[in-house]
Formats: sequence, C-alpha cells, structure tokens
Amino acid sequence: MIEKIQKLLAEVEAITAANAEELEALRIKYLSKKGEISNLMNDFRSVPAEQKKELGMKLNELKTKVQERINTLKEQFASQDTGCDDLDLTRTAYPVGLGTRHPLSIVRNEIIDIFSRMGFTLADGPEVEDDWHVFSAMNFAEDHPARDMQDTFFIEAHPDIVLRTHTSSVQARTMEHSELPIRVICPGRVYRNEAISARAHCFFHQVEALYVDENVSFTDLKQALLLFAKEMFGEDTKIRLRPSYFPFTEPSAEMDISCHLCGGVGCSFCKGTGWVEILGCGMVDPNVLELNGIDSKKYSGWALGMGVERITNLKYQVKDLRMFSENDTRFLKEFESAN
Ligand code: DAH
Repeated sequence: MIEKIQKLLAEVEAITAANAEELEALRIKYLSKKGEISNLMNDFRSVPAEQKKELGMKLNELKTKVQERINTLKEQFASQDTGCDDLDLTRTAYPVGLGTRHPLSIVRNEIIDIFSRMGFTLADGPEVEDDWHVFSAMNFAEDHPARDMQDTFFIEAHPDIVLRTHTSSVQARTMEHSELPIRVICPGRVYRNEAISARAHCFFHQVEALYVDENVSFTDLKQALLLFAKEMFGEDTKIRLRPSYFPFTEPSAEMDISCHLCGGVGCSFCKGTGWVEILGCGMVDPNVLELNGIDSKKYSGWALGMGVERITNLKYQVKDLRMFSENDTRFLKEFESAN
C-alpha cells in the first residue's frame, strides 16, 4: 500500500488537464467515492495497527495534495475563461436609466399632433433670419418698436440679419414658395432682448399656424381654436376672444381659455377672473398676402401663434421660466410619466 501511495504522490504535481471536462474526469478518478483515494481509505481499514500511523499520515498528505492540485487547475480555467479573476455572475446588472423627454418637447409634440389631425403639415424656417421675413413681409411699419435694438437681437456685422423674434417669419417663408391652399404648423425657437428672470427669457418657443385658401373666414378660425382648446385642455374647456392688434392680422384677437384649475370660477392662478390667456390670432392681413405674392382678392386666411412655455406652464404649473433651460435632471425627471 505504501508503494501505491508513493507512486500517486509522485504523480500529483504532474496532473494536468486541457479543459474543464478533463479536469472533471481527474476529480472523479482521484476524489470520487469510487476513486483512488477512497479505495486506499478502504484498504487502510485492514492495515495492521503498527503501520496505521505512518500510512495514515501519508494518505492524508496525498489527499490534500490531490485536492490542492485540482483546485489550482480549476482556478486556472476560471480565469482563462473570463479574462478576469473576480467575476461575480450573481451580481445584479447596472441599471440603465431611461431618458425623459423635455416638457417643452412633450407639449410641442402634443400641439403638432392636434393640428396634424386637422390636416396641417409641418413647416420650418431659419432662426437667424433676415429683416424681410421677420418684419417687412409681415407688415411691420418701418418705425415699429419691435424693430428696435431693445427688443431684437441684431447680428452686428449685418444690420439686416436678426435672431427671429417670432415664428411668424415662417408664415412669410411658406407663402413665398408654397402652392395654395396652405395649411401649416411651424414650431420653433425665438429670441428677444429681455433680461432673464422667472417670467421672461431671451429665448423661448412658439408654434405658429397658418391657413390660406379661398373663402377662409373668421368662423373657420374660431372652430379650429375651440377644437384645439378642447383637445389640449379637456372637453369642458371654453374659449373667449378679445379684440387685439398685430401688424400681420386684421382683425386680430387674443384667445383666453376657461381656467382649467378652477373650472372658470376664479382662483389665484387666473387672478380671480376665471380665464387665462393662451394665444394671439386673427385673419391674415390682405397686405401680408400681397407682400408674399398671394392674390388677396381671391384668397383669405387665418393665423395664430402661441408660446410653448406658456401652454406648458398652464398644463404643469412651472413657476419659473428658467427651469426649462437649466437642465436640472430633478426637474426633468418629473415629466417621466408624461412622455
Ligand atoms: N407673432 C406673435 C407674437 O410673437 C404671435 C401671433 C399673434 C402670431 C397673432 C400670429 C397671430 O400668427 O395671428 O407675439
């Protein structure tokens, strides 16, 4: 028996396996219930008492060495397989945070959606625009205060180029190259020379709508406004139109909706009036049609423009305009479910 143990001991260091299956075969050969070491243990029972001490020690040495060798080989395979020593397959994966849409994008998309259902298509124009499209083609008089440096950002080297102050410039761009009838919705960023505060910003967002065809009347405008208000703020929403003035529409109006917070009874949000203002609109001034190459005797149209920040404030009561451009993820995450 001692020879057998000595022989196996001599072999141990040379034990090697090319892959995990071979290693498992070795484990079975040496360490399983019917393996070499178990067999030796069985033989050990019938060894005479005086040999038990020496043989027992040798047998234990053999068992430990075989176990160690097999463990070493096992570890080698594990590190070869993964290329790293501390792989923990039970660890949970890193959570991947989903982004959220910006509240202004959510509301802008909703506005576009509503007008799309009425047959309007998207139109676009540049943010850096010439004086013609922002002012002249929209019937602004030469001395209109909006052309003043105090309200408008001018490009220094090019006094004729401005950052557009409203999306109405896209009306002019569309009329000059589109076939009639026109039914467009134009979302975009606009700029004004305002000090930044909770209630004003030097850039914000508008959506413009323009409809030009034969026999377009104020009734068409009113119907579109009512439908928009109900879709945007709920079926029970009422609208009212107040006379107003814009250079590019005649007649012009501002639209209020019944305050959706108090249902029109009067609260602090609507300053007790029951109404909140949401947009400007009117019949396209015949001058604007003519300036943009459209026969005003044959065609008429309506237009409207609204601030996306304004509508978003009404829907979500964001108190400070600066929140929209500060990229504070705590604020943005609040709109996760509105996506
Ligand atoms: N451009 C106007 C503004 O920035 C908004 C506006 C009012 C647009 C009436 C229109 C309109 O198309 O008909 O305040």
